[in-house]
Amino acid sequence: MQYTNQQIADLVRDDCVHKSVYTDPDLFQLEMERIYGHAWIYVGHESQVPKVGDFYATRIGDQDVIMTRDADQTVNVMYNRCPHKGAQLVPAESEGNTGRFFRCPYHAWTFQLNGAHLAAPMRAGFEGTNFDPKKPNFGMRRLARVESYRGFVFASQAASGPTLTDFLGGVRSSIDNMCDRSPEGEVEVAGGIFKVLQPSNWKVFYENLHDTMHARVTHESSYSSAREQAKILGEMPLELHIMDGNGEPYTFWEKLALCAFDYGHGYMEGIFNPGAIETDPVSHAHFESLVAAYGREKALAILGENRHNTIIYGSGSPHTVFQQFRVIRPLTVNSTRVEIQVFKLKGAPDEVFKRGLMYANLINSPSSNVMPDDLEVYNRCQLGNETNGGDWVSQHRYAGTDKTIPGGMVSVNGTSELPMRNQFRAWKQYMLGQI
Ligand code: FES
Ligand SMILES: [Fe+2]
Repeated sequence: MQYTNQQIADLVRDDCVHKSVYTDPDLFQLEMERIYGHAWIYVGHESQVPKVGDFYATRIGDQDVIMTRDADQTVNVMYNRCPHKGAQLVPAESEGNTGRFFRCPYHAWTFQLNGAHLAAPMRAGFEGTNFDPKKPNFGMRRLARVESYRGFVFASQAASGPTLTDFLGGVRSSIDNMCDRSPEGEVEVAGGIFKVLQPSNWKVFYENLHDTMHARVTHESSYSSAREQAKILGEMPLELHIMDGNGEPYTFWEKLALCAFDYGHGYMEGIFNPGAIETDPVSHAHFESLVAAYGREKALAILGENRHNTIIYGSGSPHTVFQQFRVIRPLTVNSTRVEIQVFKLKGAPDEVFKRGLMYANLINSPSSNVMPDDLEVYNRCQLGNETNGGDWVSQHRYAGTDKTIPGGMVSVNGTSELPMRNQFRAWKQYMLGQI
């Protein structure tokens, strides 16, 4: 159906949303235009294109794009489309090195690494026509704006809007903390990327990232198995401790702070630290590497910043403590792909990276013990909302009690549904063209 602004506004109330935001393909298409067509969206990390000519093809919303490293080291982002007849320059979602230029596989038009037209065979045939290689129409189109924050490359399809720094606002500190955990202040994607297909709308994933009320219920099988195993072993190694955390009682989750910022972003206070600096050998070695680089006080402050999931709405979820970025790519109204990038902290001991890989394997990968629990309930939400059994999705928990803090809001209780309400506040603003 065609939506008027009033009809869109009516879908989001202060304490609930209409279920069609998850199920209507027409709304999904509007989201591609009004959210993904405007917001800064994470494309990839600069380390994915380290050498001149490297490219990484991915998606922003429903658009195929290419991130590439130019001869002057600039990172460019262009649409994956040849201006001749529209062929994709490189296969969708591929990566590699194109050399000094892109060459279309159809009629061999070539393009510089910034998308500018380079050459077309048999140039004589264009004499007397409007063909002009200098005109942008004959080059690959670049995205309107591209900016990088500490190596994390974002692009916006809108020519105007907030700067990337302003857009990230309160969650910039999560990217800072992940990078600061490297003694060199830099991170790089390493070890491949897990891809998990989710049979549910993309927004469900964002809501679940700070949904503390589900952990104890949905993950009962994995945390109870971890506890059984620990009993047998007579100890609780980190691998089991990570799964055990979901079984904390409600009183534990109630104490956590949930911070929410403009544009739907937010972060959640950490559930656990990987290990004590004094007693855990990996944490100790990591700490010492940071002390050598920054001094003791700063090293303590960096590792003391304990955050669980951060939400960059529309892009995905960095996790600073286990140095990963779960990138969320909407596919259709009821399917979403999550790509899990794990980062190496440059200059940190190898064991820290191995611990990050272990976390991704255990918690996020297709063979994870935990992720299938979530996938099941996401899909059940999708299927339940497709029935005629009711029209509204509740976000009532602690509604009306959220407290204002500089640059955002904080929950009065860690089980609050503030993050969901905040996401839909931004969703409505995007969909009405207000941000
Ligand atoms: S479609 Fe690319 S050169 Fe013809
Ligand atoms: Fe979960």
